[in-house]
Amino acid sequence: MMKILFVCLGNICRSPMAEYIFRDMVKKQGLETKVACASAAVSNEELGNPVYPPAKRKLLSLGIRCDDKRARQISKRDYGDYDLLIGMENRHLMQMRRVFGGDPEGKIHLLLGFTSSPRDIDDPWYTDDFDTACREIQEGCEALLAWLKNQYRWEA
Ligand code: 4NP
Repeated sequence: MMKILFVCLGNICRSPMAEYIFRDMVKKQGLETKVACASAAVSNEELGNPVYPPAKRKLLSLGIRCDDKRARQISKRDYGDYDLLIGMENRHLMQMRRVFGGDPEGKIHLLLGFTSSPRDIDDPWYTDDFDTACREIQEGCEALLAWLKNQYRWEA
């Protein structure tokens, strides 16, 4: 079973949206025995907090509930526990490398790095643009799943 950790700054907006959207896609494609995912923060700002209401509403608009999610922070052991650690911005990749002591196994990636136009996903906490963030997260999750299916020859 492939394990993926989505990572952002606070773990209350972008990485929980990625976690729940990706899990929903995986389930709809019948691939839930092949891949599991979770999400975490690089900062300790929001530890224990639920998904931020505008992000929660975006998920609900897609028919996805996230009531149980609480923010947690990355720790060094996540590097061994997960196969892929996927950040929303390049700065999260740097922060992860600092916590994990580098990336000797090449597990750290940018979510939109799986698309044909790699870029950061701006923080909707500051931009207040949850529509754009959600659209970009969907784009990234679709590209990530397509990459995994091709890489591992998964068939539902
Ligand atoms: P996120 O957004 O990284 O997408 O979860 C943020 C939420 C809260 C804070 C920063 C980013 N904060 O500093 O409290």
